[in-house]
Amino acid sequence: MYSKPKKIGNLEIKNRFVRSATFEGMATEEGNVTEKLINLYKELAEGGVGLIITGYSYVQKSGKAFDNQTGVDDDDLIPGLSKIANIVHENSQDCKIALQIAHSGRQSRHLENTLAPSAVLDKLTRKVPKEMTIEEIRETIEAFAQAVRRGKEAGFDAVQFHGAHGYLISEFLSPYTNNRIDEYGGSTEKRIKFVEEIYKSSVELVGKDFPILIKMNGVDFLENGLTLEESKQIAERFSKMGFAAIEVSGGMWEVCKRSKKELGWKPTFLPESRMFVGTKNEAAYNLPFAKEIKKVIDIPLIVVGGINSLDLVEQILTEGSADFVSLCRPLIREPDLPNRWLKGIGESKVDCIYCNSCLSSLVTTGLRCVKKEPSE
Ligand SMILES: Cc1cc2nc3c(=O)[nH]c(=O)nc-3n(C[C@H](O)[C@H](O)[C@H](O)COP(=O)(O)O)c2cc1C
Repeated sequence: MYSKPKKIGNLEIKNRFVRSATFEGMATEEGNVTEKLINLYKELAEGGVGLIITGYSYVQKSGKAFDNQTGVDDDDLIPGLSKIANIVHENSQDCKIALQIAHSGRQSRHLENTLAPSAVLDKLTRKVPKEMTIEEIRETIEAFAQAVRRGKEAGFDAVQFHGAHGYLISEFLSPYTNNRIDEYGGSTEKRIKFVEEIYKSSVELVGKDFPILIKMNGVDFLENGLTLEESKQIAERFSKMGFAAIEVSGGMWEVCKRSKKELGWKPTFLPESRMFVGTKNEAAYNLPFAKEIKKVIDIPLIVVGGINSLDLVEQILTEGSADFVSLCRPLIREPDLPNRWLKGIGESKVDCIYCNSCLSSLVTTGLRCVKKEPSE
């Protein structure tokens, strides 16, 4: 089943493997694409994956999450971005590529002063963001729409909104981070309004046929955060709105329970629940939520998180729990994993051990596998 093509919107994806968005830390300080980035995407395209989703690119400087993050906030960046789209299209047997676009909201590690729907303390960074004014919200909606246009102009096959993990869209959707009492906060409907307006403004610029995907949380894993009951309602709305596919993830950075040693920086809030990147013992940890969301949507569902063997992939697809499986850490370790699986080479298990060292070294070295052996 995993080798069978399936459409996302009008886009034919040659198999059921998706490369989940993975921040690269390889752009210039101005957000421009570098040779390193181009090579990374060439290697992934050659590795056999059906759809690549790029690492998140910022739509506005006020939404830049990290140094060396790719930007999509200016038309001058389009020629660089198109080099990524071109290399993928030139070097693969029909691999498709979507540009992930995001605003970091209160989770920026690059900015001192952050923006968010409400001035809710981030217990991880210990920073209180500034509540966005209506004018700032409108500017950001326009920035997202312009980023979608730039993505299309650069030659990407699709874009994906990063609406998960506690970044700005996720902050608007979540009752934990959105305490607004105007039209952008309160009921579920009102918390959806921000992303709905982004979607509509984008479609005005790129037309209905250009596929726009969204990644969202099944649950926030935070008390008073998004519950499955509510995320199902949100997903149903997204499906009716016109999104081409939904990728189900979960959690916010604040849920981080990793130690300072593992992460390279000190989490100050250590609740019992998990971060959005699970540990080696957590296989398919978003699947219980994805399965439920799948029941209420009419568009393809992509599940991400701890998909650690081909047997598991086949099981997920044949039981109809998801239409696509998405892989992040396994493809950092083995960019050619889809080809390996498709050709029946080696084990069903991924080689990645989910040690999360890629995450802790990311900011200093750029994306790479620095696999820690279990004994280390
Ligand atoms: C190094 C690293 C970078 C990531 N960057 C992004 C990103 O830019 N956008 C995003 O939506 N998720 C990002 N994630 C989360 C992954 O897309 C994915 O949801 C998560 O790692 C679980 O999938 P996995 O178990 O296959 O790794 C990142 C994860 C890691 C480990």
